[in-house]
Amino acid sequence: MANAAPPPGTADIFPEESRRWRRLEAAAADVFARYGYGELRTPVFEFTEVFQRGLGDETEVVQKEMYTFEDRGGRSLTLRPEGTAGVMRALLNTDVLNGVEQRVYYCGPMFRGERPSAGRKRQFHQIGVENVGRVAPELDAECIAMLMHFLEEIGITGAVLKINSRGVMADRGPAGQLLRDYFAGHVAEMCPDCKTRFERNLWRILDCKEAACREIVAGAPDYFAAYSAESQEYFARVLASLDALDVKYEVDRQLVRGLDYYVHTVFEITHAGLGGQNAIAGGGRYELFLPEQSKPVRGVGFAAGMERLMLVQDSLNTGKPEPEAPPVFLVSLGAAARLENLKLAAALRRQCQHVALEVEDKSMKAQMRSANRLGAVTVVIRGEEELNRGVALVKDMAGGDQQEIAIDSLEKFLTKEK
Ligand code: HAM
Repeated sequence: MANAAPPPGTADIFPEESRRWRRLEAAAADVFARYGYGELRTPVFEFTEVFQRGLGDETEVVQKEMYTFEDRGGRSLTLRPEGTAGVMRALLNTDVLNGVEQRVYYCGPMFRGERPSAGRKRQFHQIGVENVGRVAPELDAECIAMLMHFLEEIGITGAVLKINSRGVMADRGPAGQLLRDYFAGHVAEMCPDCKTRFERNLWRILDCKEAACREIVAGAPDYFAAYSAESQEYFARVLASLDALDVKYEVDRQLVRGLDYYVHTVFEITHAGLGGQNAIAGGGRYELFLPEQSKPVRGVGFAAGMERLMLVQDSLNTGKPEPEAPPVFLVSLGAAARLENLKLAAALRRQCQHVALEVEDKSMKAQMRSANRLGAVTVVIRGEEELNRGVALVKDMAGGDQQEIAIDSLEKFLTKEK
């Protein structure tokens, strides 16, 4: 290791910043609780099969991006690249497979071996929710509306909601055939990735970002028309519920999402405040298969990238937390005063005061400099003489006033001042 940098695509989050993270998490917890969601914490690693089966072997995440390792017992484990599969694994311990609804949210680090860039990390953080166990278009709409509500709460305006339907698995045959027949005539002009996708992951051609592929996709047939009446009706009801909730959306037939578990509704939130990586959140309805399970877990949910939420907040000049309350600074002149100030600091901190003090033998001037550096508004000064007389000097740093306070009333005075 050449310097103090963390591994590529990861970051240290220092106290000033982490307060902001905590605020974001608290806003999420607060909004989601109003919709009945409680927090679920799952391990940051799972058996590899949970992701292989859950997300689909052919997905880019599983094929190229997972951090997989063998533990000492020879088991294959993987650092979670996303939250949904692990949450479903945990919820098998409940009655979700029998249609009992569970509403959970989660936040924490996720790991994908992607090429790092602005807004794309190898360790990034998601806030996500899953509504599991029941199937209804109104639930999909409520989940999306909750995401918009959360964005509003954290000051993000101008977010664009794109929505589409993946239909059900049975629709993929006829609708996929329509696409395959069309794309077959254009394989030669496609980017190398899409040439492979044509064989292995046809639908992903629809959201390729390469100019040549976009041109081909623009002429693709309307596959939605080939979905079953039931799937079309489901999507119409999602849109009607969004209209009722006054949530604005754009239907985007090129939105397919990168994970195989989606059925029916898929959606993504983009924002102009981000550069190339412009999705701040994504989600949809899913049927997720876990190892050794013949029945899928059904649910709807989304995840938002916390780093990206903060980048958007920055672009909108919002989301910065209030500065922390400044400390009371205790200046001690001499060893006896230092001991008394240590005691005073402990007592004040028990009353929720933020207190700072110098513990080495430093001059008055040096201690006042520290008080200034920390932005203290009140400084308590005690030396031999003050101790003998049972008083302390209390200085108001803003106004410069100084007054003598009797020790007996000092604690009360300082805690009242705040
Ligand atoms: P996803 O679209 O893969 O969906 O990720 C959700 C969000 O995580 C993205 O919109 C983005 O903001 C953020 N994100 C993804 N990869 C990175 C990265 N490398 N660096 C920074 N941020 C990133 C899921 O993960 C699904 N589990 C969402 C879901 C929940 N679907 C249903 N329930």
